[in-house]
Amino acid sequence: MSAFAHVPASKPDAILHLNTLFAQDQSPNKVSLGVGAYRDENGKPWILPSVKAAEAVISADLTKYNKEYPPQPGYPLFLKSCQEFLLGEDHTAIAEKRVASCQSLSGTGSLHVGMCFLMNNYAGHQFYMPSVTWPNHYGIFEKAYGKQSKYLEYTYLFKDGQLKIDFESMKKDMNNAPNESIFLLHACAHNPSGIDLSKDQWMEVLAIFKAKKHVAFFDVAYQGFATGSFEEDGFATRLFAREGVEIVVAQSFAKNFGLYGERVGCCHIVHTDQNNAQLTLNLQGYMCLIVRQTWSMSPVHGAYIVQTIGQDPELKKQFLVDVQTMSSRIKKMRQMLYDELMRIGTKGDWTHILTCIGMFTFTGLTPAQVEHMKVKHAVYLVTQGGRMSMCGLTEKNVAYVAAAMKETVENVK
Ligand SMILES: Cc1ncc(COP(=O)(O)O)c(C=O)c1O
Repeated sequence: MSAFAHVPASKPDAILHLNTLFAQDQSPNKVSLGVGAYRDENGKPWILPSVKAAEAVISADLTKYNKEYPPQPGYPLFLKSCQEFLLGEDHTAIAEKRVASCQSLSGTGSLHVGMCFLMNNYAGHQFYMPSVTWPNHYGIFEKAYGKQSKYLEYTYLFKDGQLKIDFESMKKDMNNAPNESIFLLHACAHNPSGIDLSKDQWMEVLAIFKAKKHVAFFDVAYQGFATGSFEEDGFATRLFAREGVEIVVAQSFAKNFGLYGERVGCCHIVHTDQNNAQLTLNLQGYMCLIVRQTWSMSPVHGAYIVQTIGQDPELKKQFLVDVQTMSSRIKKMRQMLYDELMRIGTKGDWTHILTCIGMFTFTGLTPAQVEHMKVKHAVYLVTQGGRMSMCGLTEKNVAYVAAAMKETVENVK
């Protein structure tokens, strides 16, 4: 008998498992609205034209863009590009050298580096997650902080099922937390709900963070996806970094660059000590240590793509158009689905399909309705909140999906 025979079957990740089920489904009408990856108007994966152009630049000069190990924190031009995409080119935190950055493995690796950093250097400070969040946050927290550590939750949406932020309760939770707590915040395009704070609400949250000296841990997985603008989607991060809040950032280039499988991202710590460049180096050095002990060096190819686009004004311009292309298609699909639901007389209030932002929408379909959508209509949604990835909708399948939703809400409670 194997020495490992005691190892039990692992519970599959709910979202990834949905992809497996979808691949096995033989229905000619099947529609995948589970996976968080952009699809073009034909439902196919899309490589951004700016990324294709950057690939051409890279492959034309493999002496420059070689396969050597990169410097431990990542190539300087890559880090510069990451900071500029995140904060804008002329942000005071960059000018004041308060931004410590280290390349990491997409958003997930950056969350890991940020949480390990806090666990080791800011222990004993309570960690808060939004009451609904990307489920992998829990696992990444457990890995970094250890099984015995407990995070708490702060209110995000109303508990009674209303698809709105319960802002008064959120503020109360942030005010009642011990001073110097750590809050995980979705910078934009909240996953899974698709419901974000307004700018005025972010200003109120900022005031609480300043008064309570909380640390803001921003998950920046969708910058550009929410509104089509890096500046708009960077509002909260840029504000907090300017206004003297200590922030940690997990930056992913999976969605906005379409570099899902390249695993390219960056962890940043923006501290508040002006003119303390040594501290910036120390923080970067600590993140490098975590990377060194975990995967040693981050991969270069995706980093070359990000820095090539980030440092070439023409390619950057093209890239920002590409991001617009993706976010406008998502907005168009929101409108088409809503119009079709109205046209066929689907009961219920569906305005949130229009007001949600980014890749996802909490449809509000119950777990039983989500199951029915899968079994009867071969339309795949995530059970939590009936989360729908708007990217899986196309002009060809939107009427089919709307009809399936109508039939489901009429017949399944
Ligand atoms: C909220 C959120 N954070 C982080 C990630 C990390 O993604 P990746 O590791 O692919 O960059 C995701 C991916 O779905 C996400 O939705």
